[in-house]
Amino acid sequence: MESNKKKALIAQLTLEEKAGLCSGGDFWHLKGIERLGIPAIMVSDGPNGLRKQEDKADHLGINESIKAVCFPPAALFACSFDRDLMEDLGDVIGKEAQATDVAVVLGPGVNIKRSPLCGRNFEYISEDPYLAGELAVPYIKGVQAHHVGTSLKHCAANNQENNRMSCSSDADERTLREIYLPAFETAVKQAQPATVMCSYNLINGVHASENNWLMNEVLRDEWGFQGLVLSDWGATVDRVNGLAAGLDLEMPGVGDDAAIVAAVKNGTLGEAVLDKAVERVLDLIDQWTAHREQQALTLEADHDFARHVAEESIVLLKNNGVLPLEKSQKVLFVGEYAAVPRYQGGGSSHVNSFKVSDALTAVKAYADVSYAKGFSGMEDVYDPALAEEAISAAKAADRVVIFAGLPESFESEGYDRTHMDMPACQNRLIREIAQVNENVILVLHNGAPVAMPWLNDVAGVVEAYLGGQAVGEAVVNVLYGIVNPSGKLAETFPIKLSDNPSYLNFGDKESVEYREGIFVGYRYYDKKEMAVNFPFGHGLSYTTFAYSNLRLDKPVITDPGTLTVSVDVTNTGAVAGKEIVQLYIEDHTGKVQRPIRELKGFAKVSLDPGETKTVSMHLDTRSFSWYSAAIRDWYAYPGEYGIAVGSSSRDIRLTETVRLETDRALSIHITPDTTVGDLYDHPKLTEIGRDLLARTAHFFASENIQDDTLGDAIAGSVPLRAVVKFGIMSQEEYGHLVMEYSDRPL
Ligand code: BGC
Repeated sequence: MESNKKKALIAQLTLEEKAGLCSGGDFWHLKGIERLGIPAIMVSDGPNGLRKQEDKADHLGINESIKAVCFPPAALFACSFDRDLMEDLGDVIGKEAQATDVAVVLGPGVNIKRSPLCGRNFEYISEDPYLAGELAVPYIKGVQAHHVGTSLKHCAANNQENNRMSCSSDADERTLREIYLPAFETAVKQAQPATVMCSYNLINGVHASENNWLMNEVLRDEWGFQGLVLSDWGATVDRVNGLAAGLDLEMPGVGDDAAIVAAVKNGTLGEAVLDKAVERVLDLIDQWTAHREQQALTLEADHDFARHVAEESIVLLKNNGVLPLEKSQKVLFVGEYAAVPRYQGGGSSHVNSFKVSDALTAVKAYADVSYAKGFSGMEDVYDPALAEEAISAAKAADRVVIFAGLPESFESEGYDRTHMDMPACQNRLIREIAQVNENVILVLHNGAPVAMPWLNDVAGVVEAYLGGQAVGEAVVNVLYGIVNPSGKLAETFPIKLSDNPSYLNFGDKESVEYREGIFVGYRYYDKKEMAVNFPFGHGLSYTTFAYSNLRLDKPVITDPGTLTVSVDVTNTGAVAGKEIVQLYIEDHTGKVQRPIRELKGFAKVSLDPGETKTVSMHLDTRSFSWYSAAIRDWYAYPGEYGIAVGSSSRDIRLTETVRLETDRALSIHITPDTTVGDLYDHPKLTEIGRDLLARTAHFFASENIQDDTLGDAIAGSVPLRAVVKFGIMSQEEYGHLVMEYSDRPL
C-alpha cells in the first residue's frame, strides 16, 4: 500500500482499533475492521503442506484440518540440497494457499538440530546454518511469488521441546551468531519473509517475544528485516514490553488490547511504536488482498510432486551391492511401515493427507513381492508369531527389505526423546533376520538419527526419514533403481547419543547452557576426530563420480572480495545420476578456535554416464569469517585457508589453498593479563609483539633456557604484568601501549 494511503488509513483508526490489529481475531485469523474494509486474513501451518483448520482450532495438530497434500518434512527435503527444488516446493505450497484463502503459511523452520533428541527435528532443516539458510531462501521466494506470506520460525535458539515455553537457551554471542542465527539472517537478507515468528523460549534470560536485541537490533537494524514479527502461539508474556521490543502481532486471538491502550494513554508506550506495528500489519493484509490469484487445488498433481521431492531427497546410506533390486529377484518386505508408512511428524505441522501411498501397494504395480508384518509400527512389543513368520519367509528370499523406524509416539512437537534407540522389538528382529539372510536392506522412517546396533549385520540402508504422503512410491522407485538416489544427509548420524556435543547440557528445565558453543554437529565430531555412523553430507548413488581440476579464479582473496571455486565432476558409472558437490572452508591461520571445516557452498549436478560438467561455487569474505564478540562483527584473519571440495564432510576429494588479505583488524583490549603472544598474534601489533617477544625470550634465555624456540614459546605466554615486573618493559611503556592501542579500531 502506498505510504500516503496507509498513513491516512492509520489516522482513521481509533486507539482501540490499532491495539486490536496487533493481536489475532481468533486462532487463525487476524482482526479485520469492517467499517474500513480491512479484511480478517487467515494464517495456517506449514511448513510441509497446509494444515488449514475450518472448524475446531488448535496448535498441536489434534483437530481436523482440510484434506491437503503432505510434502516431505524438512528433515527429508533438506537432503535434496537442491535450491531449485525448494523453490518449486514453495511455488506449489503458495498456489495451494491461494486456492484455499490462506494468506500466510507458517514456515519454514530453520532452527538448528543441536541434539538428535529434539522432538521437532523433523521440521527443521539441518545441523548446519549455511545449508538451513540456503534452502530456506528459495522456499520463501517460491511461496511469496504468489503473494502468500511465509513465517520464518522459530526465532531463535528454540532447540528443544521440553519446557520450550519457559526454558532459557543460554549461549554466548559468537555461538548465536555463527550457529543459531545465520539461517535466519540469510533468509531475511535474501528473501525477506513477510513475517518472522518469535520462539517460545528465552534467550540468555530474556523471552524471545520481548527481546529488543533480537527483534529490533539484530533482525531489523542489522539485517534490514521489513516484515512483521508475530508471536508463536501463546509465546507472549507482557504484551506492552513485547510491542516495544519489536513484536508486532500476538497470536492467537487472546490479545491484551486493553494493556496496550492503557500504556499509550499513560505514556509508557509511545504511540509511534504502536503505529509502526499497525503499519506492518496493514502491509501484510494489503500484500494479500491486492494480489489474489485464481488457483484451484490440484491435489493429484501435488501428490506427484510430493513423490518427486521425496525421490530427490531419500539418502542411500549403505549399499554392499544389494541395491537396486531386480524384478526377477524374490523380494520380501517386512515391517508394518511397508503397509502403513510413518511419513510425517506430530504437532502443528500435521497435515490431513488426502491420500497416502504405501510401499506394499506401490510395488505391486512393478514387481511381485511377498510381505510379512514382523512387528507393529505403533508399539514396542516383540510378537514371537509375527517374528517367526518373517524369519522363515526371509530364509527363502533373495533380498529382504525391512521397513523400520520410530513409532509416532516416539517423536513429536511438544516433547523430546530421551534416547536415540529404535524400539527393541525392531532391533531384535532385524538382527534375527540378518542371521538367516545376508541380503537385508533397511528402509528407515524416522524424523531424526537413530542408533544402529545392527549396522554391520545388514547389507543396505535407505534413509527415507518422514517422506511425506507419497513416500511408498518414492521408496519403491529408489529400491528398484527407477530413481537413482541422490540425497545427502543434512545432519550427522552419531554412533551413540553420548557422542553428541549437547549430551551433558540438553533438555534442562529453567535454562540450558549451550556449552559446546560453536561445535555443533560435524563441527564437533570432526574436531574430536570421532567416528560416526554416517557423516554430514553423506549419501550414495547407484553410479560413481570422479572429481578433477579444482581451481580458484584467483590465488588471493582481498577483504572485501569474492572467490569462485570450480571443479569438474564426471559420472564414472553406468547409469545417470546426480551428485551433490560440497565446498568446505578450513581456517589454517591458527589464530582462533574454529571448526576443522565448515560448509560454505554446494551444488547439485545431474550427469549421464561418462558425462563431465564443471561446477562453480562462489564465496565471499564472510565465507571465511568467524564472529568476534569483541568487535561485534565478522572477521577473517589474514593468512592461508583451505578450500576442500568433496562428496561429504568426510569424503573430501580435492583441496586447494587461498591466501586472504585484509586491512581490517580486531581491536584489542589490553590489560595486565594480556600476553606477549596476544600482541604478536594481533595483525596490527605484530611488530611491537615481535620486539617484546625477542626481549622477553632473551631475558628468559639468558636466565636459564638455551633453546630459542623454547624461549619464544615461553615468552609468548608471559603476561604484560610479569613483563613489567621482570623489568623487561617499563611501567611507562605499558601505559603507552594501553593509551595508544587498547579498545581502538586498529
Ligand atoms: C508451533 C508453531 C505453529 C503454531 C500454530 C505452535 O505450537 O510452535 O510452529 O506455527 O503453534 O499452530
